Amino acid sequence: MTKKIAILPGDGIGPEIIKSATDVLKFINTKHNLGFELEYSDIGGAGYDACKKPLPEATLKLCQDADSVLLGAVGGYQYDNLPRDMRPERGLLAIRRELDLFSNLRPAILYPQLASASSLKDEIVAGLDIMIVRELTGGIYFGEPRGIKTDENNKKIGFNTLVYNEDEIKRIAKSAFEIANKRDKKLCSVDKANVLEVSELWREVVIDVAKDYPQVELSHMYVDNASMQLVKDPKQFDVILTGNMFGDILSDTAAQLTGSIGMLPSASLDKNNKGMYEPIHGSAPDIAGKNIANPLATILSVSMMLKYSFNLPEQAAEIENAVGKVLDKNLRTADITDKNCSVVSTSQMGDAILES
Ligand code: IPM
Ligand code: MG
Repeated sequence: MTKKIAILPGDGIGPEIIKSATDVLKFINTKHNLGFELEYSDIGGAGYDACKKPLPEATLKLCQDADSVLLGAVGGYQYDNLPRDMRPERGLLAIRRELDLFSNLRPAILYPQLASASSLKDEIVAGLDIMIVRELTGGIYFGEPRGIKTDENNKKIGFNTLVYNEDEIKRIAKSAFEIANKRDKKLCSVDKANVLEVSELWREVVIDVAKDYPQVELSHMYVDNASMQLVKDPKQFDVILTGNMFGDILSDTAAQLTGSIGMLPSASLDKNNKGMYEPIHGSAPDIAGKNIANPLATILSVSMMLKYSFNLPEQAAEIENAVGKVLDKNLRTADITDKNCSVVSTSQMGDAILES
């Protein structure tokens, strides 16, 4: 049976890293006769250039019909002055929302070969394996009202709304407990319940959901402390559950623990585990087109796709093992390079994965 995979390269380094990742996807497809069909479409600035919209209708339709979606990155300097609704990031937020991809999994795993690429001491990060579960379709990213207006004193005010209803909290909490249950059974819910009412409700609902998972040890942490603990003693965490904005911030911190943001893949899932897969880094316009970006986060996103959307854990492991082998050969893109290592380009890194 054929399975359709929508490929959205996007902007900046997006097309380069997607090329490497789709080469790996095509290789696995042929090797195991998986029946994947790849279909490409535009999103972000590329969507705006092609159709004057960051999420063209054809792209949305393709993604709705597809069994899975692989995305590169969105954003670029040339789009910074567009009206807010037309900016590339709006396309990404819209596709997450339209496909109801509320559960965003961001694993931060330190490959032992990269221990010295981390800016933290070896013993702090060695063996690191954290899963951040970020709520992705609610919170302050989507809350209404939002905008910039002029008040009665002729002063401009900018405003956003941080809102969660109990159903939104419940479903992401369940996702996180399910994941924790399959790992080390430790879940830390991160909020700001000492200040925000929305976090008070968050905590209340998470505690309620916890009743169905007595085997999982639940703790709570304020987000300011969590950001500190992540760099002080990251290995205390197994699964971190948090809202949209806190998850955005903490996952960049977690990425740096692993040596480079160029290493972190992600899966964004709906209630049926249909997913969109993307590296957590952005479009890096400063290095776009230079063939120097690290494609590993996108390649590892393909591995997550095989695992979560197609239930192919062995094929997913093949990709993870190939990444390990390439690192063993001391091949590194510029962002993760180290003494005694050879710096390779995006395409050379992709080719090295295929050869492993
Ligand atoms: C991410 C990115 C996006 C986000 C941007 C590009 C809209 O930072 O996926 O973490 O904030 O969610
Ligand atoms: Mg981010």
